[in-house]
Amino acid sequence: MKPRALIVDDERAECEMFADALRDAGFEADWELQPLEALRRLERQPFDVVVTDLNMPGLPGIELCRRVKQDQPNLPVVVVTAFGSIDSAVKAMKAGAYDFVTKPFDVDTIGLVLKRAVENHELRAEVDALRRVVDTSQRYGALVGTSEPMRRLYATIDQVRSSDTTLLLTGESGTGKDLVAREIHARGPRKDRPFVAVSCAAVSEQQLQAELLAAEGGSVLLDEVGDLPLATQAKVLCALEERTLRAFGGSAVSAFDVRVIATTNRDLEEAVEQGRFRQDLLYRINVIHVELPPLRSRSGDVLLLAQAFLGELAVRSGSALAKLTPAAAERLLAYDWPGNVRELRNCVERAVTLSSAALVDVHDLPRKVRDFQPGHVLVAGDDPSELMPLEEVERRYIARVIAACGGNKSKAARILGIGRKTLYRHLDNQGPPPSEES
Ligand SMILES: Nc1ncnc2c1ncn2[C@@H]1O[C@H](COP(=O)(O)OP(=O)(O)OP(=O)(O)O)[C@@H](O)[C@H]1O
Ligand SMILES: [Mg+2]
Repeated sequence: MKPRALIVDDERAECEMFADALRDAGFEADWELQPLEALRRLERQPFDVVVTDLNMPGLPGIELCRRVKQDQPNLPVVVVTAFGSIDSAVKAMKAGAYDFVTKPFDVDTIGLVLKRAVENHELRAEVDALRRVVDTSQRYGALVGTSEPMRRLYATIDQVRSSDTTLLLTGESGTGKDLVAREIHARGPRKDRPFVAVSCAAVSEQQLQAELLAAEGGSVLLDEVGDLPLATQAKVLCALEERTLRAFGGSAVSAFDVRVIATTNRDLEEAVEQGRFRQDLLYRINVIHVELPPLRSRSGDVLLLAQAFLGELAVRSGSALAKLTPAAAERLLAYDWPGNVRELRNCVERAVTLSSAALVDVHDLPRKVRDFQPGHVLVAGDDPSELMPLEEVERRYIARVIAACGGNKSKAARILGIGRKTLYRHLDNQGPPPSEES
């Protein structure tokens, strides 16, 4: 799209000549003979740059400049002065003009000056947008979100960050457990010491020992603690209780001082029941339990997060800040995000890569987001053939609740208001739960 310039000069011949020159330089050019008329036009119509003469009846160019800057601080104004009248050029700059050109001018110079002015304008608009993205009122350190569940989470972090108490962070995959653990570390007294993340599924005893020692004075994240092999669980329990690593490796005893933060997206109570996780270790790490809300329970944060990711992408790639079309925003809001914030982030990154313009539209979104229909639990039309036995309704509802809890049956049982054993009995009687229909 060509940049749009508005020329303000009380002499028609000057305007016409100026407009021709600007069109040659790649602008769309319009003009106004009356400064007050020009101001009214600027209210109605978007322009990228204003070029004004200084000596005009009605309103001097300097005053016009001042008023434009008042209404649209980011809109650049370039003033045209007669050769040699540097004084008035200086006055114009003080009134907020971006630059000036002297008459008589050549086409190349005026084109260059205006292009620079427009680029500067775009840059400022972008910087403003980025400022809004990193607006501290919408985030808590690295965490973006202002919804009620997130505010509660921030309050909890404030309560636990200064202590050494072991924390258990639970939540579905992609809800930000990792990020929250880092934020807690960064806000606590150990922030200048290491933060070491250990992936429990892949770690050997020796590695674990080395990591605990390496994190001395800092924090250790036991990521996906439910995946620790049973034998290692015993060693970890012992180490945590005695704050020494005697049980590991050789006979030497080394004391260690780390804050432990464990995460899981599994149901650890269920794992205990099935003999896959030690009850005493669960008690030991579950001193304070922080549950991260799934994204679908805080749809108010979806667009805020999308904005933040668009901003990060623009900063990283040095390109223009992409925008969401209203239709694309609506699809993002409607979707239920089983992969939570990670899925949203991937979706936004993919969309920006695919979209040709700095505009993300519906067709840039993954098909499952585009075509998503909110799932219906109960099918109850007027057609008797669509109605179903109560048992089937119950079966479907239970399946829906379990799915909504990310497979966490303890949580599902709580929501359903029945005991976990009762829930299992239901599931046993009913065979495998039906797959989600959407
Ligand atoms: N509140 C948030 N604000 C900004 N980014 C977030 C937020 N929550 C999560 N993210 C981003 O989403 C992605 C997934 O987050 P993270 O890795 O912390 O999730 P997780 O709960 O540890 O997932 P998993 O269970 O799969 O390990 C990361 O890129 C992270 O930066
Ligand atoms: Mg994680």
